[in-house]
Amino acid sequence: MKLLVTGGAGFIGSHFIRHYLSRHKKDQIVNVDALTYAGNLGNLHEARKNSRHRFVKADIRHAPAMTRAMRGIDAVVHFAAETHVDRSLLSADEFIQTNVQGTFTLVNAARLAGVKKFVHVSTDEVYGSIPSGRTSEKHLVDPSSPYAASKTASDHMARCVYHTYGYPVMITRCTNNFGPYQYPEKFLPLFITNALENKPLPLYGKGGNVRNWIHVLDHCEAVELVLKKGRAGDIYNIAGSGEWRNIDVAQKIIQLTNRSLNLLHFVKDRAGHDLRYAPDDRKIRRGLGWKEKRPFAKELPGLVQWYKDNEAWWQKIKAGSFKKYYKKQYKR
Ligand code: NAD
Ligand code: DAU
Repeated sequence: MKLLVTGGAGFIGSHFIRHYLSRHKKDQIVNVDALTYAGNLGNLHEARKNSRHRFVKADIRHAPAMTRAMRGIDAVVHFAAETHVDRSLLSADEFIQTNVQGTFTLVNAARLAGVKKFVHVSTDEVYGSIPSGRTSEKHLVDPSSPYAASKTASDHMARCVYHTYGYPVMITRCTNNFGPYQYPEKFLPLFITNALENKPLPLYGKGGNVRNWIHVLDHCEAVELVLKKGRAGDIYNIAGSGEWRNIDVAQKIIQLTNRSLNLLHFVKDRAGHDLRYAPDDRKIRRGLGWKEKRPFAKELPGLVQWYKDNEAWWQKIKAGSFKKYYKKQYKR
């Protein structure tokens, strides 16, 4: 099989490529990525030496490039997106263009090229804030941030190609991923690397917001299952087992890095900050046999260790364009 993966130089996409190549020894991957600020070929190292992996620098919004990229492709797994909520609050244009227009351009190119399957990787944020209970795949979508709204729109753009043309699109909606190689604008890598640098940990509001953490490889395995066994037109929620308040995660990071609680800084809350996400993922567990293997509580010490051992990777990012963003976001 020849797979086209978009966003394969990002956090989850790079893990998916490594994982998939190691599990499917005869398959090939074409990795399409525009290398935005979040794209980093350094995330792929050993996969880049693999002759079954080919990197193509291209933008999913560019229809002719996507048409060319689809030649000989059997299936698409679509990760590419603008992904950071806080950036979408500073400016939403790129989110609308990449996530909405880009997704439609890509699905359409795949359909017209006769590519047999398309997995669109979405997010639990489409359901909006869920103070209590769980959201099944049939739950109303009610996104809060421009990021979440653009992902919701991208789900609709992908699904309409299924409804209109019967094109076999499947959608996954996963909770917050953790793991190595996550860009340090996101909560976990930002707090771990700031703690290692003895810098303040900027906790939004009172730190009472809750996130459901899932290991990036558990997410990749779920996406792989949907690719292999998912039903055309279906949506699959994916969730981890651990729900944590941000303040509890921050305190655990301080403990694991042997730092002082004084590093904890309560800062202005994120506008429209969703309290909690809680997708019900019984459909993928029961229907496709997916299981979580790497629970957050057990894996967090290893994650902190990875950031200790791979300082060169994140120091390089933090010394680059990230600095300007950090200053603007945290007014430091
Ligand atoms: P990321 O920001 O680390 O990587 C995104 C990648 O997409 C980058 O390599 C970037 O260069 C590429 N990209 C951006 N715009 C592009 C464009 N126009 N054309 C081609 N490539 C482009 O993102 P991530 O955290 O790995 O997320 C991957 C996907 O998973 C996204 O669709 C996101 O919505 C979804 N998701 C993420 C999480 C999470 O916790 N990180 C959870 C659920 C779903
Ligand atoms: O739920 C899936 C989503 O998870 C994905 O779709 C998004 O792409 C991904 O970025 C993530 O969104 P969140 O907004 O939940 O992740 P983030 O890492 O930005 O924030 C996690 C929590 O931590 C959230 O409640 C906000 C809080 N936070 C975050 C940052 C960056 C802070 O308190 N301080 C911070 O500096």
